[in-house]
Amino acid sequence: RQAAAATGSRYKFKELTAGNDETHHIAEGYDADILLRWGDPITADAPEFDVMNQTAAAQLKQFGYNNDYVGFWPLNDEGTRGVLCVNHEYTNEEVMFPGLGRQDRQEFAGMMQELVDIEMAAHGGTVVEIARGEDGKWALVRDSALNRRITPLDTEMTISGPAAGHERMKTNADPEGMTVIGTVNNCAGGMTPWGTYLMAEENFHGYFWTEVMDADGKPDVSAHDHADSLKRYGVPGLWYAWGKFHDRWNIDKEPNEPNRWGWIVEVDPMDPSAKPVKHTALGRFRHEGAETTISPDGHLVVYSGDDNRFDYLYKYVSTGTVSDDRSANSALLSDGTLFVARFDEDGSITWMPLVHGEGPLTAENGFAGQADVLIDTRLAADALGATPMDRPEDVQPRGDGTAYVMLTNNTRRKADEVNAANPRPESSFGHIIEIKEDGGDPAAPRGTWSILVKCGDPSIAEVGAQWNPETSENGWFGSPDNCAIDADGRLWISTDQGSSWAKTGKSDGLYALETEGDLRGHSQLFFRCPIGGELCGPYFTADNETLFLAVQHPGTDGTKDFKGFERDSVFEDPATRWPDFDPAMPPRPSVVVVTRQGGGKIAL
Ligand code: FEO
Ligand code: CA
Ligand code: CA
Ligand code: CA
Repeated sequence: RQAAAATGSRYKFKELTAGNDETHHIAEGYDADILLRWGDPITADAPEFDVMNQTAAAQLKQFGYNNDYVGFWPLNDEGTRGVLCVNHEYTNEEVMFPGLGRQDRQEFAGMMQELVDIEMAAHGGTVVEIARGEDGKWALVRDSALNRRITPLDTEMTISGPAAGHERMKTNADPEGMTVIGTVNNCAGGMTPWGTYLMAEENFHGYFWTEVMDADGKPDVSAHDHADSLKRYGVPGLWYAWGKFHDRWNIDKEPNEPNRWGWIVEVDPMDPSAKPVKHTALGRFRHEGAETTISPDGHLVVYSGDDNRFDYLYKYVSTGTVSDDRSANSALLSDGTLFVARFDEDGSITWMPLVHGEGPLTAENGFAGQADVLIDTRLAADALGATPMDRPEDVQPRGDGTAYVMLTNNTRRKADEVNAANPRPESSFGHIIEIKEDGGDPAAPRGTWSILVKCGDPSIAEVGAQWNPETSENGWFGSPDNCAIDADGRLWISTDQGSSWAKTGKSDGLYALETEGDLRGHSQLFFRCPIGGELCGPYFTADNETLFLAVQHPGTDGTKDFKGFERDSVFEDPATRWPDFDPAMPPRPSVVVVTRQGGGKIAL
């Protein structure tokens, strides 16, 4: 059953009915095909996936876990060949490894180096060539020389920008402080105007380990240099057992290693031999994403949220301007100014520069130079009085000085902690802010902001939702996360409710959200995830004929509520076995490609 299209909507499709079940659903008239699944071989010499006999060596040549950001860059004028760039944010060992069961992560029962190395090989990113056949369907070009995995196990990266080579970046393995192995927790990201792929390092703190605990059994970092920094970033998080087997994840052995994570990584998908670069000029925090735009006078602007309760929104403006010299443009990410946002009650936004020597960012306050300002971006932004937000997720500039900020939720904000830009206490469902930069210039130091929608069920007064009243019961959503602007300038939102999806009764999905005219704030459901999955991507090709989506961790989030009991092993009794529905295969995170049946542009 599908609702009618809203009268006057700019999105031409019939809305899907909300719900939650074992598979995915797409609006009538569209196909949503599986393109790449965890474990799919991506190189000509890669072994076929064997879930019962996994190895790190095999995983290094196979599609990684928990696909999040998806970017695409065409390789021909017709747009029928291109590179697909996909982040692999994290791993869910309980559905990866048979027999491991629902382990307590604090005890790491059953984890051994072999499993840890497979996890590391399943993190990072994938770059593959894909091509569209005569039938309009996309497929992997498995023998393309461009295909590669980027992982925290074996991909060497160069450190660039003001913190490169700084004392606090040096380790035993890298006494120069210039080279790091890999990237982790790559959540959203971006494609630069010159076709490189930006991977945001989000929850890096979770990968670090210590054996030093306080009386309550919590990590004790008080004996470390820069202990305030470790605490502000939540290091070590003890989410994974990697530090038991690899010294660099153990802060007792490598106290500077955490400083080398939490950055934006640039990858050149056209050159498989090119080392990725960690760009320190864009600051160190739990970067959700890194979407770019160009100012009217040619400066590169990158927006990035720090996804943590009460953390901040940032943007970066390059010193130089974007040129036709593709190889020169990477330097724009090494030389520029990072700003943090203050949202004032009068609807204005001020972008405050994080520059050493300006305002409180001085040696007396613990910032000896620009490297300290960037390594401790959060502490510097605290000192400037930035506005604490309800978990800034993806930020999408539209190219005209407008940007949309996803604020996913913040159940810990108390009534006396609300501000105009984060107006709801104990916000379970989040909201979306629209920014209009002064003069339509994304590089402007000031602008205005307004709330586009407050999420949640509009039929329940206590929720305090704010939607266009034409929004149907299927169209409202909670917990906006990733987002995209399509080729027609329209906004699309994907959601991540985490384990609390039961608060809405809906699966995660993709929504078309009007930003202009009488229907501003009107939302319609276009795609639904299978149970326990979060929806990532989305990315539209330039012709708007293809939409790439990424279903993360199907069968996991909140699924103990789905069948009403807790399972010992999600692997053996998952809430879904999407997308294979094979009793010998666990659910697999997968990239989904959406096209219109019979061809044509999506929702136009
Ligand atoms: Fe990885 Fe902020 O979601
Ligand atoms: Ca996200
Ligand atoms: Ca999220
Ligand atoms: Ca997730």
